[in-house]
Amino acid sequence: MAPRRSAQWYAGDDRNSYIHRAWMRRGLPSDAFEGRPHIAIANSASDLTPCNAHLGEVARSVANGVYEAGGIPLDLPVVSLGETQVRPTAMLWRNMAAMATEEMLRANPIDGVVLLGGCDKTIPALLMAACSVDLPAVVVPGGPMLTGTFRGVPLGCGTDVWKLSEEVRAGTLSAADFARSESSMIRSRGHCNTMGTASTMGLLAEALGMTLPGVAGIPAADSRLLEAAHATGALAVELVDAGRRPSTVLGPGSFRNAIVALAALGGSTNAVVHLLAIAGRAGIELSLDDFDRIGADVPLLVDLQPAGRYLMEDLHRAGGLHAVLAEVRDLLDPLAPTVTGRPLAEHLDAAAVYDREVIRPREMPLQPRAGIAVLRGNLAPDGAVIKPAAASAHLLRHRGPAVVFDSVEDLHARLDDPDLDVTADSVLVLRGCGPKGYPGMPEVSNMPLPAKLLAQGVRDMVRVCDGRMSGTAYGTVVLHVAPEAAAGGPLARVRTGDLVTLDIEARTLHVDADLDAREPSPEFLAALARPSRGWERLYVDTVQQANTGADQDFLLGASGDRVARGSH
Ligand code: FES
Ligand code: MG
Repeated sequence: MAPRRSAQWYAGDDRNSYIHRAWMRRGLPSDAFEGRPHIAIANSASDLTPCNAHLGEVARSVANGVYEAGGIPLDLPVVSLGETQVRPTAMLWRNMAAMATEEMLRANPIDGVVLLGGCDKTIPALLMAACSVDLPAVVVPGGPMLTGTFRGVPLGCGTDVWKLSEEVRAGTLSAADFARSESSMIRSRGHCNTMGTASTMGLLAEALGMTLPGVAGIPAADSRLLEAAHATGALAVELVDAGRRPSTVLGPGSFRNAIVALAALGGSTNAVVHLLAIAGRAGIELSLDDFDRIGADVPLLVDLQPAGRYLMEDLHRAGGLHAVLAEVRDLLDPLAPTVTGRPLAEHLDAAAVYDREVIRPREMPLQPRAGIAVLRGNLAPDGAVIKPAAASAHLLRHRGPAVVFDSVEDLHARLDDPDLDVTADSVLVLRGCGPKGYPGMPEVSNMPLPAKLLAQGVRDMVRVCDGRMSGTAYGTVVLHVAPEAAAGGPLARVRTGDLVTLDIEARTLHVDADLDAREPSPEFLAALARPSRGWERLYVDTVQQANTGADQDFLLGASGDRVARGSH
């Protein structure tokens, strides 16, 4: 067996190995430094990331599994991002969290790592880090919340917030009842229980092959999650012994499987940006068009909010990810491996569906074509995305006059103005919400509808934005317009009244105007973020556009697990 990476700290009798060992003893068994694999548990638990607050308990189970298999488990707290808490958007620090995790894994005497995430950005950041440091790595997704109920019916995190708040604005739900629903919605530990970004990325971590098969989607409060965490700890030791790294597990086939899963599950549009970023770290060629090419014709099989009715607990009860993947097995790469060393496809043999309302058979899908559609045109030369499954049928092909907003503040100031010249046919355009513009590419693209139209019963309109949309939101919303307005994209030059044409079938987004002949609006330029220092400045200076994953240019690729020069 090749010498452990950690042996470069601990082996030998010299002063430096003495220092490395002595400070780490703290009751560890005496043979801890004699070749046992040292496994970091990269833990994004934080009280300020409520979705991940329970991961300390999961980490204890992982640690037990590591010990049992002969390894030494080591807690490594990592940057944590609470989707609902941090401003302006958790996305501003996804790359920073990935960078900090990568650097700390490389700097320390670590042979392998178990990655604990849950809330939206945490699993993507951990996977990006793992690819760039390329140590043996495995994810334990923290799992979704249990289903909460309000007035006797299930309440989905996120999705129902949008619905209930629109009801309040439309005057059909009292403010007191709205407030009462709060404590019903967040029923237990875990992340949002709709098919939002957290659920999607936990499931896609497994589709990529980066989890113990069968773990993704186990509710956070379910004891089976701790069992799986225990087994994952043991697996981490096996990964080190086998030298099985992200670079051995991940290949183009893994991303094909993730894209197929994304469509069949009806997953979040945010997964597009995250998968592109992960592929960018892994050095695997993946483009926006691959999502359309591989995923567009995949049927939607899972009836979960926001596209459908049920919640993550139901998906798990109905058979979980494997039952879904077994339905589309012929579309998967049969050889794409997992951390077990066996192909993902082989792990599907025992899959069974226990509730056909939640997981549909292939021949009776919820929608025949569920993937992400990639749009292009003079408004989005480098592409934009839309999730047809979350869009209204009558708007799939639409032409209407733009109503342009220069910022989120501008939108909120004018949207409910009774004099705003807007009808159900208008196309709401919001700019300045891309990676550089906001900065951080927030989830503001699912603009609320004007109050006067809501009062008329309008529930959806075509919206176009260079930002992202919460994975728990819905509507006919064109997202991730690239290049963004703040990077000189044509979105900066569209004007109120310009006719915009969306044709999802034709994959086009066009505006009837010679945008090249125009200058960006001065109001828009004035509203742009220009951070002068700190991470924000580094971020704005180096972030790439959504169509390639919105990673920093200097973080693409990998540096591997090389051991740096000594510190003493
Ligand atoms: Fe954390 Fe939704 S807020 S997953
Ligand atoms: Mg979100």
